[in-house]
Amino acid sequence: MYPKNCWYVAAHAHEITDQIFARTILNQAVIIWRAADGSIAALEDRCPHRLVPLSTGKTVDGLVECGYHGLRFDSGGACAMVPGQDTTPKNIKVQKFPVAERHALIWIWMGAADLADEDLIPDLHWMDAPGWAATTGYLHFKCDYRLINDNLLDLSHETYIHKHTIGNDAVADSPVMTEVIGDRVVRAHREMPNIDPPPFFAMAQGNDKPINRWQIAIYMAPGFNMTEAAFHTVGTDRTRDHFMMRPIHIITPETDHSSHYIWGLARNFQLDDDELNDRIYEATQQTFMEDRELLEIQDQRLRAEGMPKLPQLPVKVDKAPVQGRKLLEAMIQAEQDDPNFCLPPVMLADDDVVTQPFAVAAE
Ligand code: FES
Ligand SMILES: [Fe+2]
Repeated sequence: MYPKNCWYVAAHAHEITDQIFARTILNQAVIIWRAADGSIAALEDRCPHRLVPLSTGKTVDGLVECGYHGLRFDSGGACAMVPGQDTTPKNIKVQKFPVAERHALIWIWMGAADLADEDLIPDLHWMDAPGWAATTGYLHFKCDYRLINDNLLDLSHETYIHKHTIGNDAVADSPVMTEVIGDRVVRAHREMPNIDPPPFFAMAQGNDKPINRWQIAIYMAPGFNMTEAAFHTVGTDRTRDHFMMRPIHIITPETDHSSHYIWGLARNFQLDDDELNDRIYEATQQTFMEDRELLEIQDQRLRAEGMPKLPQLPVKVDKAPVQGRKLLEAMIQAEQDDPNFCLPPVMLADDDVVTQPFAVAAE
């Protein structure tokens, strides 16, 4: 269901402290914490003594102490102390996972550890780059992570699910241009000239004047999505006067039917506006919870029907999600054929270029 030889996001960096943070990733329970020197550590959440989860315990001087008999482990998974004895047997060990901190995120590698190269971490610099301000959040979804990718690659659903925030009829009515880039990326681009602003855009613009809106859903397998969401008031200059938001949706599988939705909404305007930040947080959580409600119902139905292939009856808007699934399946298959297979990431978007309108007649 998912490739293992790639970096996944485990958490926002601010969530990881010197205390134990427990999370299941790709069906594997792990604990993550900051060791005494501030470095990030990740171990299997399983004490090798009597197999109790280490998350029953606590950290002491940068070491993890099991909650049952107090054995302590260091960030490399070696046993550092056994209460009541002077020696620490070398064979008492916990599996460790490669981790890294970048773009205000904690990354974890669940596959073959010797392949974990930090150069393979996707570039999500909008999360903490100069010129951008990112509002961040987290939601737990009780659904297969692939359903979330499908949802983010077909934004026609905004018209129906998100009419109180980012959707109106113009979204579903506008044609989409789909493009596959390399082995890992799909882009689905929509132009919406001279439309009424949906509520969220009217809030950002400060009025109800008509807008020229564009939207590019970008997917990188297995679970990285960025929506370039931009607009400018009709009559103003697209390049100079646009507002742009880049919601980054990081979908990390928890189990086969649950997912971590770790998000950051980067904007290039009103960078220091804390009040706007709060409003964006509320509106974004609300928007993603609308998706969650529907996707959890969909997952239940799919399970009841034995996980049939989707879409059952493809229509035009399925083009991008179908391409996304194909890339993902190829990545999983390649790893099954060659356990050392891993793909380099692809740049999601260019900061210096405001995407120009495409010829809608071509679609
Ligand atoms: S089960 Fe962990 S110390 Fe005994
Ligand atoms: Fe949505």
